[in-house]
Amino acid sequence: MTDHNTPLVPMSSPDITDDERQAVMEVLNTPNLSMGPRIDEFEKAMADYVGAKHAVGVNSGTAGLHLCVKAAGIAPGDLVITTPFSFIASTNVLLYENAIPVFVDVDPKTGNIRPDLVARAADDLAAGGSAARQWLPRKGADTFGPLKAILAVDVFGQPADYDALREVADRHHLVLIEDSCESLGARYKDRPAGTLGDYGVFAFYPNKQITTGEGGLVVTNDSLAQRYMRGLRSQGRAPGDTWLQHTYLGYNYRLDEMSAALGLVQIGRIEELLQKRQQVADWYNERLSEIPGVQPPQLVAETTRVSWFVYVARFEPGHDRDAIARRLDARGIPVRPYFLPIHLQPYMIERFGFKVGDFPVTEDLGNRGLALPFSGMMTEAQVDIVCRALRECIQ
Ligand SMILES: Cc1ncc(COP(=O)(O)O)c(C=O)c1O
Repeated sequence: MTDHNTPLVPMSSPDITDDERQAVMEVLNTPNLSMGPRIDEFEKAMADYVGAKHAVGVNSGTAGLHLCVKAAGIAPGDLVITTPFSFIASTNVLLYENAIPVFVDVDPKTGNIRPDLVARAADDLAAGGSAARQWLPRKGADTFGPLKAILAVDVFGQPADYDALREVADRHHLVLIEDSCESLGARYKDRPAGTLGDYGVFAFYPNKQITTGEGGLVVTNDSLAQRYMRGLRSQGRAPGDTWLQHTYLGYNYRLDEMSAALGLVQIGRIEELLQKRQQVADWYNERLSEIPGVQPPQLVAETTRVSWFVYVARFEPGHDRDAIARRLDARGIPVRPYFLPIHLQPYMIERFGFKVGDFPVTEDLGNRGLALPFSGMMTEAQVDIVCRALRECIQ
C-alpha cells in the first residue's frame, strides 16, 4: 500500500467532456432508462465503425464473451484452445459452461497466443489418445468432449495473428472467438480488431479506449448468432417472445440507456481518443528507451496498428519487478503487474492441477511486465514524473 492518499498520477482516467454529460442527462429526462433508442444507435455506430453487420450491446465485456461461448455451442466438457496470458475473464467464460480450457503458450514479443502451438494442439486433439492427452490439464479433464473453438485475445491492444489462427479454425471446423476487449481501434493487416474472428468482443470499463462506465459489445456478421445473443442477453427472450416468455435459459446482460448514450458520444470521438493515447505512448517510448533495464512494449510493425489500452513496460532479466513496483507505489506512482498468469490463479490450480513451469513464456512475461499509469488524459509532465521515478527505482 502507498502512504500517499492520492497518487501523484492516476493509474488511468476516463476522457469525459460536456458532450458525454449532456448525452447522459438527456436520457435521464426521458422515461426510457433501459431498452430505448440509445442502445440501437450505439450498436449501429459500433457496427459501422468496425465494419461488421451486427453489434449486440451488453453490460460487460465478460458478458459479451459469455454470449459468444453460448453462440458457439460450447457445452460441458468441450475443449477450447486459449491463452493463459490474458485478463481472467477470457477463461472464466469457458468455465461458466464447464468447458475445458486447452492452454497454449504465447509469443515472447507480443504476449499473443502462438498459432503454431494452436495448430499442433488442434491436430493432436483431433488425433485423440495420448497425442491429445498431452495438451489437457493434469486433472479436471478425465472425460472430455470435442474441440469446439479457439478463443484468442488481443493482448494490450495488439491483435493476435488471425490469418494463421483462421487457417487452423477452418481446417478443424472451429469457431474463432476474438477477445478484442483491449483492442478497439487496432488493425491487423489493415483489418479492424473485432472483425478478425467469427465474433469479436469489446469492453468499456473506464480504463478502456472508450467507456460506458460498465459495458461491452459483441460484433459479428453471423445473423443467426446475433439473434441468439440478443435473446440471451435479455432473459432468453427469442424474437417474438413477450416480456414473460423465455424461449432459452437467458441472462440479464442488458446495457442501459445512460451507458449507451455515453458510449455513443465516445465512439464519435474515437479518433481523437486513440490519438491522445498514441501521444502518451510515444512520450513513454521515448523516455523508456533511455532507461537501462526496461523495455517499451513490442509491436509487430508489419501487421499491427496498435490501439493503446495499457502501457506495459518489461524489465530485463535480473531486475526485481515486484520490489521496483513497491518502491514506485511508495512514491505515489500506482503500477500493476500485468498479467498474472491465469493458470496459476488459486482456483485454476485446484481445479486443473496446473503448476509453475507449465507455460514458461506466459510466466516469464507475467514476472517481468509492469503496467505504468496510462490514459489519453496524461500530460507530458506526468509521463516525466513516472519515468523519473522509474529510473530512480530501478537503480
Ligand atoms: C482481455 C480482456 N477480456 C475481457 C475483459 C472483461 O471485460 P469487462 O471487465 O468489461 O467484463 C477485459 C477487461 O479488462 C479484458 O482486458
